[in-house]
Amino acid sequence: MFGPKPIPTGQILPRTQIGQWLNMVAAKSLTVVESGSFCGLGSTYCLASGLPHEGQMWTFEIDESRFRVVEALYHLAPQINTVLGKMHVNKGMFPEQVDFMLLDSGNAEEGRLECEIALQRAKIVALDDIDGEKHRENYGMFRDWETLIEIKGPFPDRANGFFAARNPKYENPLK
Ligand SMILES: C[S@@+](CC[C@H](N)C(=O)[O-])C[C@H]1O[C@@H](n2cnc3c(N)ncnc32)[C@H](O)[C@@H]1O
Repeated sequence: MFGPKPIPTGQILPRTQIGQWLNMVAAKSLTVVESGSFCGLGSTYCLASGLPHEGQMWTFEIDESRFRVVEALYHLAPQINTVLGKMHVNKGMFPEQVDFMLLDSGNAEEGRLECEIALQRAKIVALDDIDGEKHRENYGMFRDWETLIEIKGPFPDRANGFFAARNPKYENPLK
């Protein structure tokens, strides 16, 4: 109750089921894009620590103070590209086709713009908060994709659901 506030580290944490799933998907990916790095030790760490040495990851954060923390954490890792800015505004920074995208940034409108990019460019997509304001309306955009995970409502370590799907145009890289 009293004393200093804990330093925020991340939201999707490595010890959780979703954190481990992200780590597994990253290990099978060569290109990963994440929107919403937060402080870099949540989903960003799950992905970065799974990515193969020859892989590349781009992680986007709009809050400058958070971005500086993330930049400091990963600046010695040449395959982790930390970016201050929005993913959909900087979409030219990463390849036309990416193996995996995690969309966990701001609000429903930003999320929708990111989902439009994922529809065009991702083999697998994951959305946090499908039972929250951010992605409740957006995840239906992937109705023609194969659902890999669909959790609505609270579950251990996530408050508002989680969704992942695979673009049926591509062979399943997770087999
Ligand atoms: C829910 S938190 C991300 C949590 C993180 N994925 C984790 O597991 O620790 C959302 C983050 O997205 C950032 N954000 C909000 N809108 C954004 C946007 N359009 N592009 C990039 N980052 C954004 C916020 O500043 C915040 O740090």
